[in-house]
Amino acid sequence: MTDATIIDGKAFSEALVTRIAEKASALSAKIGRPPALAVVLVGNDPASGVYVRNKIERTTAAGMTSIEHRLEADTSQDSLLALIDDLNNDDAVDGILVQLPLPDQIDEAAVINAITPDKDVDGFHVVNAGRLATGQDALVPCTPYGCLLLLRDHLGSLSGLNAVVIGRSNIVGKPMAQLLLQESCTVTIAHSRTRDLQDVCAAADIVVAAVGRPEMITGDFIKPGATVIDVGINRVPAPERGEGKFRLTGDVDYTSAVAKAGAITPVPGGVGPMTIACLLRNTLVAAARRFDAGPMEI
Ligand code: GUN
Repeated sequence: MTDATIIDGKAFSEALVTRIAEKASALSAKIGRPPALAVVLVGNDPASGVYVRNKIERTTAAGMTSIEHRLEADTSQDSLLALIDDLNNDDAVDGILVQLPLPDQIDEAAVINAITPDKDVDGFHVVNAGRLATGQDALVPCTPYGCLLLLRDHLGSLSGLNAVVIGRSNIVGKPMAQLLLQESCTVTIAHSRTRDLQDVCAAADIVVAAVGRPEMITGDFIKPGATVIDVGINRVPAPERGEGKFRLTGDVDYTSAVAKAGAITPVPGGVGPMTIACLLRNTLVAAARRFDAGPMEI
């Protein structure tokens, strides 16, 4: 069997961002200003700092406005909720993103559900989760939407295919399963308590791995020719690169899976770049909806 097609999420996301930037420019002309995203970071988590900086840079590069709010690690829930209230009522803000995780004194669900659903560009609000689950117009979480765009691009119609989503988080696993169901896949959600995961995966035409366990899904799990989407981004020691060095790896053992799969996303360069592209897409969609500027299908 020949090696799998490598699904190039970096190239796909760059083309997508180019289209989003064109639409953002047309929308700016219509509404008199660029679409605007407010990004809220609480505390000093280094990884969150890197993600937020990336999101801000990419938003600006796509011709949209980024409004940054950095709050101290000891910020109270009430002050954060007061900021969300201001942003909800600010006409110059189209999208609101609160970077997770939040410090322990703050209830994440309370904060997420305080964001006006129509500005909830992460798609985490319970109203957006409900809209997605019932087939209504929703802002959809960015990472699963990015996975769906890659799957559609590679496979065309997904109708009737067996899909296994490994992971049941609110951010990836559950919305991914809803999106695949909407595409008429037969969907199984597997997780840490699933028995015989290997047998479950062996029947899958599509495997989406979002477990957060480095290289857990090996080639033995993959049906020959299946499409494998690796959502994991794990930092693991790489002594072969020198003392104290690390490398990034997915939830899929790439070397063994690439020999079995029909197509596979690499890490890095697969799903990762799609997440920010879909955040920009959601910001554009939110702005267009707020100003009744017509559908923004991308
Ligand atoms: N932390 C890790 N992933 C995400 C994400 O997609 N959105 C937000 N807001 N925080 C995150």
